[in-house]
Amino acid sequence: MKKQTIGSLLKLKQRNEPITVLTAYDATFAKLVSQQGVEVILVGDSLGMVMQGHTTTVPVNIEEMVYHTQCVSRGNQGALIVSDFSFMSYATPEQTYTNAQRLMQAGANMVKLEGGEWLLDTIRGLTERGIPVCAHLGLTPQSVDILGGYKIQGRDEETAEKIYQDAIALQAAGAKLLVLECIPQLLSEKISKALTIPTIGIGAGKQTDGQVLVLQDMLGMDTSFSPAFVRNFMLDPSVNSIADAIKCYVNEVKQGNFPASEHCFD
Ligand code: KIV
Ligand code: NA
Repeated sequence: MKKQTIGSLLKLKQRNEPITVLTAYDATFAKLVSQQGVEVILVGDSLGMVMQGHTTTVPVNIEEMVYHTQCVSRGNQGALIVSDFSFMSYATPEQTYTNAQRLMQAGANMVKLEGGEWLLDTIRGLTERGIPVCAHLGLTPQSVDILGGYKIQGRDEETAEKIYQDAIALQAAGAKLLVLECIPQLLSEKISKALTIPTIGIGAGKQTDGQVLVLQDMLGMDTSFSPAFVRNFMLDPSVNSIADAIKCYVNEVKQGNFPASEHCFD
């Protein structure tokens, strides 16, 4: 695959071609995922659960994000690499710039942070210094203890309006991509239409400009964890290997077959 850039993702949005994103945390999977044509690899702090066995992303630190970004970067063949800032690693400008430097030098092409308008100065500062930022709204797992669990966000009018206004403000501050996690599909459609930057949804309906899933989830590897928005692509009759399952995900997202209504929230 030709090396993906912010510009190539923007073109996909403009052509109405869904963008495919998967997480990866190591070189082998990064190679496989990028070889199947997935445009963006997210080195997510979901590695706290998937790699480390924690119950939240809160225990993950920046050294671990740097290590996994290096691993992914060595295996990647053309995908754009987005790496998560870990919990509280972007709390002050000093921390933000030092940690962004570390993620970018580890091989990230973009850094991702969770939250709304309180991050506008952070996003502006990073962008001015040449570091592209992906924002993340809705269910923001680093705030799980404030949110009181992993619940759909923005079902009431006030929160929905806040998420919408945050999305507009994040783009204006320079965000180049926006992840929308577990929000009603009408809200993510409204946001995706209002923004010029691509939106990437997880549990956010089919109207976002792209889709993301945690790799181990879409491979059905943890039989005790299957949230409603996930589909196990290993179970597709056409699939005989992990590479097939990833290819099937790419095809189903590109054709608009995933997510189906059973994977979406109202
Ligand atoms: O950490 C992660 O994998 C994420 C995605 C679920 C969006 O942030
Ligand atoms: Na994350």
